[in-house]
Amino acid sequence: MKAEDPKTLIITGGASGIGFAFSEHLALMGHRVLIADLHGANEAAERLRKAGLQAAGVTADVVKEDDAAAMVAAGERAFGGVDGLVNNAGLFTTLALKPFDQITNAEWMRVMEVNTLGPFNCAKAALPALRRSGRGRIVNIASTVPIKGPPNMAHYVASKGAVIAFTRSLARELARDRITVNAIAPGFTLSDGVLQAQLQDRIGDNARTTGRCIQRDQVPADLVATLAHLVSDGASFVTGQTLAVDGGGVFL
Ligand SMILES: NC(=O)c1ccc[n+]([C@@H]2O[C@H](COP(=O)([O-])OP(=O)(O)OC[C@H]3O[C@@H](n4cnc5c(N)ncnc54)[C@H](O)[C@@H]3O)[C@@H](O)[C@H]2O)c1
Repeated sequence: MKAEDPKTLIITGGASGIGFAFSEHLALMGHRVLIADLHGANEAAERLRKAGLQAAGVTADVVKEDDAAAMVAAGERAFGGVDGLVNNAGLFTTLALKPFDQITNAEWMRVMEVNTLGPFNCAKAALPALRRSGRGRIVNIASTVPIKGPPNMAHYVASKGAVIAFTRSLARELARDRITVNAIAPGFTLSDGVLQAQLQDRIGDNARTTGRCIQRDQVPADLVATLAHLVSDGASFVTGQTLAVDGGGVFL
């Protein structure tokens, strides 16, 4: 279904996994997408352009201020402005699962850096452009783990709890600029990174299937329509919310 209100949207971590599913779906809807990633952003954008879609790519590390500024500038250069930011880049699939007292301070800080400083940094960089847009959208990709509190990933759980809290605070600050700020909380999803790390074999049936109302594995395609709604003009009165998309694993 084509969007009635095409926007220019930046998707961080948009070259693979859930992020690429977001990029592809939004582009198929007629949005202009800027894929920002550490690796593969230009190749991913090229794949979309070959399919006749509007996409550009930029190599960017979300934790670096200069990269975040260059990312927004690339969106403005390619498409004349930026209307939305999807903070999807995050560390999860490459993390070792372990009891909290075996997580080193360096591991804790790195997860916090990518998963919380990253969205903060990118939101700051995008703010002037989102203000100019007049219909700005920020969507942060959180997780259901802060609600469920699973063991052996305390740094990740804490980081995603911070993403939900950040979403609420930003929603209040930015409403006067007609920027909405929401979060999507996916359940355990068979993304590229999960499959490469074979996390699905270690995470347990409760997280994968039996703990959900709808008892099947979640795939990236399950998430894309919720994002499409949150960036639409029709969602202009929805802000500060976290939408769980997990087959009914948690009720928020
Ligand atoms: N897969 C799941 O089960 C699941 C569940 C809930 C939430 N999430 C969240 O969804 C998002 C995507 O997860 P995924 O499973 O697709 O992950 P993934 O590991 O498959 O992909 C992550 C992408 O982010 C990029 N990235 C990582 N660090 C970056 C940085 N510093 N700057 C720019 N790009 C960076 C990677 O290159 C990669 O393309 C993450 O925020 C994750 O925490 C995932």
